[in-house]
Amino acid sequence: MNLTPRQKTLVRESFESVREYSDSVVVLFYGRLFEIAPEVRGLFHIEIREQARKLMDMLTALVEALDRFGALRPDLAELGRRHGEYKVVPAHYDALVSALMWAYGHALGLEFDRETRLAWEQLLHAVSAVMIEGAATAQASPRVSE
Ligand code: HEM
Repeated sequence: MNLTPRQKTLVRESFESVREYSDSVVVLFYGRLFEIAPEVRGLFHIEIREQARKLMDMLTALVEALDRFGALRPDLAELGRRHGEYKVVPAHYDALVSALMWAYGHALGLEFDRETRLAWEQLLHAVSAVMIEGAATAQASPRVSE
């Protein structure tokens, strides 16, 4: 993952605000996601509030690990494999990034400027790529127990 030091700073600083407005971000995010990709609504079985907490926890872990992204790779690949089981397909990741950026933009306003948005998109696309690869690898060589 090749974020510049400045991009990492932008991600960290904007995430402070994201956490501050996390209730709004979550509501905006899921509303937008189900609007642009209605087919994913049926994939979620646990309560959206619980799901939202997991997403915020995961984003927090990502932001905290910005300087050691490589160390997160195995966990992200495994997370991607589970997402394959949840019936998440690669196109859904684009929908997620787009919905999340939309939600950040509406919750943070002018603070979420173009440069900050690009930094986040770069981070989320790197994460998505590892997860998608994890799912594809698992599909190519399923576990013996499955
Ligand atoms: C940046 C990429 C993503 C991250 C970091 C992420 C994170 C998570 C986490 C931490 C969980 C908790 C369960 C587990 O650990 O296996 C989860 C579950 C789930 N995620 Fe994601 N996710 C991502 C992308 C997506 C996308 C693109 C979709 C589909 C639109 C999606 C749909 C789901 C579903 C359906 C569940 C299971 C919920 C349930 O059982 O009801 N996720 N995700």
